[in-house]
Amino acid sequence: MNLNDELIATITAEALAALAAVDTIEELDERFPSIVGKRSAFASMQKSFGSLDPEQRRELGARLQDARRAVEASVELRRIDLRAAARTTMLEADRLDLGDVVVASQSWAVTLGHAGLVGSTQAELEDVFVAMGFTVADGPEVESDWYNFEALNIPPAHPARGMWDTFYVDLGEPETVVLRTHTSPTQIHLMESAVANDSLPIHSVAPGRCYRRDTPDARHLAAFHQIEGLVVDHHITFADLAGTIETFTRAYFGPDIESRLRPAFFPFTEPSAEFEITCTICHGAGCRTCSNTGWIELGGCGMIDPAVFESVGVDPDRWSGFAFGFGIDRCAQMRHELSDMRALIENDVRFLGQFA
Ligand code: DAH
Repeated sequence: MNLNDELIATITAEALAALAAVDTIEELDERFPSIVGKRSAFASMQKSFGSLDPEQRRELGARLQDARRAVEASVELRRIDLRAAARTTMLEADRLDLGDVVVASQSWAVTLGHAGLVGSTQAELEDVFVAMGFTVADGPEVESDWYNFEALNIPPAHPARGMWDTFYVDLGEPETVVLRTHTSPTQIHLMESAVANDSLPIHSVAPGRCYRRDTPDARHLAAFHQIEGLVVDHHITFADLAGTIETFTRAYFGPDIESRLRPAFFPFTEPSAEFEITCTICHGAGCRTCSNTGWIELGGCGMIDPAVFESVGVDPDRWSGFAFGFGIDRCAQMRHELSDMRALIENDVRFLGQFA
């Protein structure tokens, strides 16, 4: 082997060794010029051929070129390997560990949600009334002034309106629209459709959300829930009303809780009453919650006022009826002895979890 061939072999071996030391595509791009490119030993040897005679230059040049091509081919193979390695590393980093997903979803399943206390109380109340022969109805939360007040015998500017601090909805319409302040307007809807469909009598309850411009406190919320009861039939008396309230009270709160009625005023019933139940905290002995009376007020009730019958076209000489309405949130509060009703809307999972 002559000196030139030895030199070519050395250059080639060094280039391949440099190539073998490269670990990444970036390094390869960076080192390429010094391995086989412009700044490589191949290039400087090529330059040194300038002094040779043309025959020798062509012959030696061809051998050098072969060696350089062989190194270039190795570079390309190495590039393919490095690219594949880079891709594997990337996929490895992106890999979705399905084991992790399973574990995560299992711990999520443990904290699955459940019905809230108000919703489950509403469902229990509905069950009690359905067992007593009532159907369950629904009504809109946004009402015209007529449904929320006028049809219930509460004329505009009547002092009785002071009983309900009202949220008004401004729809830019001549008609006054309100967020319903009680579920009593469902009485009007129920009677209207019964008259239209000639389907009297009515034995229905209608639960739902109501709104009042109240500052929330331990016993009041600005958005709360009521359940309305309406019975319209022949020969309905106050005794039917009292018996219904008492039956409900014992069925829902248990046999040692009683109800009592006290005279009151509501524009849509005559006579009207407030109904109270034995204080569920002290069982009648007297405590702070019941102001030492042993009784807690739950809602209002009474015999349907003839003026209400007339506003929906029910003949008060043929039909009579009673209605009642009370707070669902208040029921939950009494049943579960909650000192502050605001806990119902604060969404503290430590509180909510107790009712899973
Ligand atoms: N709607 C009344 C209120 O929210 C409660 C009420 C009283 C409902 C008497 C009735 C009733 O159906 O007869 O204050």
